[in-house]
Amino acid sequence: MYKQKKVVVTGASRGIGFAITHVLLSRGFSVHMISKDAILLKKTCARLKKYGQIDFSVVDLSSREEIKKFCVKWDEKIYGLINNAGRWAEERVDEPDKNIWDQIMRLNLDGVYFLTKGLQRWIVDKGRIVNISSQLGTGGRIGMGAYAASKHAVIGLTRCWSLELSARGILVNAVCPGWVDTESNRIEIRQWARESGLSYKQKMRQITNPLTLKRFIKPVEVANLVCFLIGVEGSGITGQIYEIK
Ligand SMILES: NC(=O)c1ccc[n+]([C@@H]2O[C@H](COP(=O)([O-])OP(=O)(O)OC[C@H]3O[C@@H](n4cnc5c(N)ncnc54)[C@H](OP(=O)(O)O)[C@@H]3O)[C@@H](O)[C@H]2O)c1
Repeated sequence: MYKQKKVVVTGASRGIGFAITHVLLSRGFSVHMISKDAILLKKTCARLKKYGQIDFSVVDLSSREEIKKFCVKWDEKIYGLINNAGRWAEERVDEPDKNIWDQIMRLNLDGVYFLTKGLQRWIVDKGRIVNISSQLGTGGRIGMGAYAASKHAVIGLTRCWSLELSARGILVNAVCPGWVDTESNRIEIRQWARESGLSYKQKMRQITNPLTLKRFIKPVEVANLVCFLIGVEGSGITGQIYEIK
């Protein structure tokens, strides 16, 4: 059903992007992955090949120049674009500058804006864009000012693009995950546990206790929501912001 439909997924080599790629392939979409680390991309591609048609490009999405070069070379119709690549770092407004602002904005915001701007002309009528924002795209947390600002901005782009692209029937939505069980998070939480003299389990309990589901969301659960929005089920939905937490 989706065989001829190509979806570009950024940050596809691991974490949520990997799960999105996996689920898209198993539903019959073909996927073009974009990430920065060529070795990891190659490995991911080899691992997922058995599920469907997959290829990749190595692009540093925090570099406008690299995005421009990639978009100029692109010459294929696209059904869907999933802007997933992103990163976070902590810095409070009242502590010395650690230079995280530019790094976060370049990837989480400029990357989404310029890649979409460069590729939009290839997106077919009735195509789809899904932007991965965050629960911090609608709320705040101590130390997360730059990240939250970038993810709030992604929601702003989603709302504007859904209006701007509606004449072509292109549907644009955002997904806002809470804590997701990714390897990157596990590494970070292990570090926090060490710093606070707690075991990994104790630290996890501290984080998950206040959560509604008392657990992290699985990457595949985020992927299923993205695939709902990309698939026939999502055909009447645009400009919407979905929290999953
Ligand atoms: N995990 C969570 O709890 C959570 C919660 C809310 C929202 N999110 C959002 O969900 C998205 C995915 O998060 P994740 O946790 O799955 O991240 P992750 O596991 O850290 O993976 C990040 C992905 O982005 C790619 N990437 C990083 N910097 C890049 C760059 N400069 N150019 C191109 N690709 C780059 C990475 O590729 P390389 O290996 O090549 O660097 C990797 O494929 C992000 O936008 C994040 O903000 C995550």
